[in-house]
Amino acid sequence: MKLPLKRPILVTSGLPYANGFAHIGHLRTYIPADCFVRYLRKLGEEVVFVCGSDVHGTPIVVKAEEEGISPKELVNKYHEHFKDIFRRMNVEFDNYGRTDSEYNVRRTQEIVSKLIERGFVYSKEIDLAYCPVCNRFLPDRYVEGECPYCGALARGDECDQGCGKHLEPGEIRNPRCKICGSNAEFRKQEHYFLKLTEFTSFLKEYLEGLDGTENAINYAKEWVESGLKDWCISRNLEWGVKFPGRDELVVYVWVDAPIGYISSTEEWSVKNNKSWERFWLDKKGFIIHFIGTDIVYHHCILWPAMLKGADYNLPSAVVASGMVKIEDKTFSKTRGYVVWVKDDYLDRGFHPDLLRYYLLSYTSHTKDLNFSWRIFQQKVNSELVGALGNFIYRVLLFAKKNFKNEELKGEISEEVLQEIKKTRDSIVQNLQIFEFKRIVDEIMALVDFGNTYFQKSEPWKVIKEDRERCRSILRDAIQIVKAICIFMHPVMPEAMREVWRQLGERSNLNSVSFEDAIRPFDGRIGDVRPIFKKIEDEEIEKMEDILRKRIERAEGGDNLITIEEFKKMDIRVGTIVQAEKIEGSKKLLKLLIDIGEERPRQIVAGIAKTHKPEELIGKQVVVLTNLKPAKLMGVTSEGMILAAGDEPVLLTVERRVNNGSKVS
Ligand code: 2FM
Ligand code: ZN
Repeated sequence: MKLPLKRPILVTSGLPYANGFAHIGHLRTYIPADCFVRYLRKLGEEVVFVCGSDVHGTPIVVKAEEEGISPKELVNKYHEHFKDIFRRMNVEFDNYGRTDSEYNVRRTQEIVSKLIERGFVYSKEIDLAYCPVCNRFLPDRYVEGECPYCGALARGDECDQGCGKHLEPGEIRNPRCKICGSNAEFRKQEHYFLKLTEFTSFLKEYLEGLDGTENAINYAKEWVESGLKDWCISRNLEWGVKFPGRDELVVYVWVDAPIGYISSTEEWSVKNNKSWERFWLDKKGFIIHFIGTDIVYHHCILWPAMLKGADYNLPSAVVASGMVKIEDKTFSKTRGYVVWVKDDYLDRGFHPDLLRYYLLSYTSHTKDLNFSWRIFQQKVNSELVGALGNFIYRVLLFAKKNFKNEELKGEISEEVLQEIKKTRDSIVQNLQIFEFKRIVDEIMALVDFGNTYFQKSEPWKVIKEDRERCRSILRDAIQIVKAICIFMHPVMPEAMREVWRQLGERSNLNSVSFEDAIRPFDGRIGDVRPIFKKIEDEEIEKMEDILRKRIERAEGGDNLITIEEFKKMDIRVGTIVQAEKIEGSKKLLKLLIDIGEERPRQIVAGIAKTHKPEELIGKQVVVLTNLKPAKLMGVTSEGMILAAGDEPVLLTVERRVNNGSKVS
């Protein structure tokens, strides 16, 4: 994008799902977006910054069910959590909404109805996974089975462990119900589809003109080239935005989530008596989405098609950040490679600005970013304490000790002014291509310049011979501090506010523009003290230890289970009433075991080599009865008999008990 833009700009950040705590991976998108907005404001652009919680979708319903609370209760908790994290990390949205707000429900229904009216939606009978035991259709994550493309174990909506493809309802093979484990069947039901295929040539042209980062645009182009598929936009769920005209269905979460961008803007406009239409309806608005690379498809293909079909403005730029790695390993909550923003960072007293600095300066925005506690310590100690903090402290302390404020006012040398202007111009250039690391590098180069300038000018010697000359050195050095403070403010708002105060400036740094960086200093230096503090080895070792333990626990290093987990197992005593070999298998026997139910359970056991079928009849054995049913050599097994050792020896009871007696 080319600055100055001179159009009203709307910046959005991907809406976080309100079903878990914020981790560093989340911040990778929000911090750069916040920093970007702050820079635009410093350049005099008119910007609105919105976000909100994404509260719908099956993962939320499934998690609520697991926790025994309602989806509403679940999302309320995490919505508040995210709001709090953003506040503490100084990510300042103009509005933070939620996708179940009245605004969003209304807007979603309006857009879907419009798409229907205009013929972009059609209905079709499709085969959907249905659980005959639970008596319900199984949308998305309620079902698992095999991926039709690569055969890996997949969820209903995504092959998350294999090829990564999005799966449409009904595509999954050999589906099983995630709630009760039964084999699901396919049943016909009418669902609604967005004619994405009709937007193919529109999307090709649109993507040619789309601004943003290459990773987003190129992926999207490849997908369009490789052929689009229509999208099913309705789901059998109660939790969600009701599908217009079909009360038993809700719209797919990826329809009402991005509409959250519009409704959050609308909410902001109502609260502030401003117009949301100038962004979404008048062609004047410039919309920029900050997202993670994992949701490029939704933002560059699905979303523009919806907007186009319903006659809204299209996003002008999509900026996609790379993923976060933890200690060089792929980020994974289940494997323990995660750093929580609240528990591991903020609540342990680490300053928000240090993490902002790390995330913005470690690598290019589109590359994967590695978070390591050691590197964190090194960056803070050498770059922030050693270089930036040290320079500011030295200059201000020297000035405070040796000069009165009035003496410091006056002209700045041309050399210094040029250097500041050069830094300002490179910041603007890099901002246009969303290269935040280079922005920070440029500012740090100005710090180096300042440090060298101060060092080689030796004001502590000059002051003894030529006070006038020393005064002008100091004036230059303070001007560099002032410029650094303004330039670095979007990166580290709190720390720079403190520098601003030490410079004796009274104005609100938020409204100080880039132009002020070359306006000669005329403040009164206040109390001077170091801004950053070294991070000691012990602190980092403690954090590394916490992470290590988390990973070990996840790997099963600590495999203790709770009594509740044990109680989940339904183990009963039963009597074998029938036993026979399974054709084609040397190992397996098919057993019928009376466990006190109406009909005996059929269980397949790998004991053919050690046990003769006829000798088993009448024996009492111990059976795990609530194991997910599975097929072995084509024969269904509805449980497992317990045995000891490799041989194996069957477990039995001390004396006969009633069939069905529970083992506890
Ligand atoms: O992937 C996610 O975390 C989604 N909740 C992002 C939604 S972004 C937007 F479309 F709302
Ligand atoms: Zn079921």
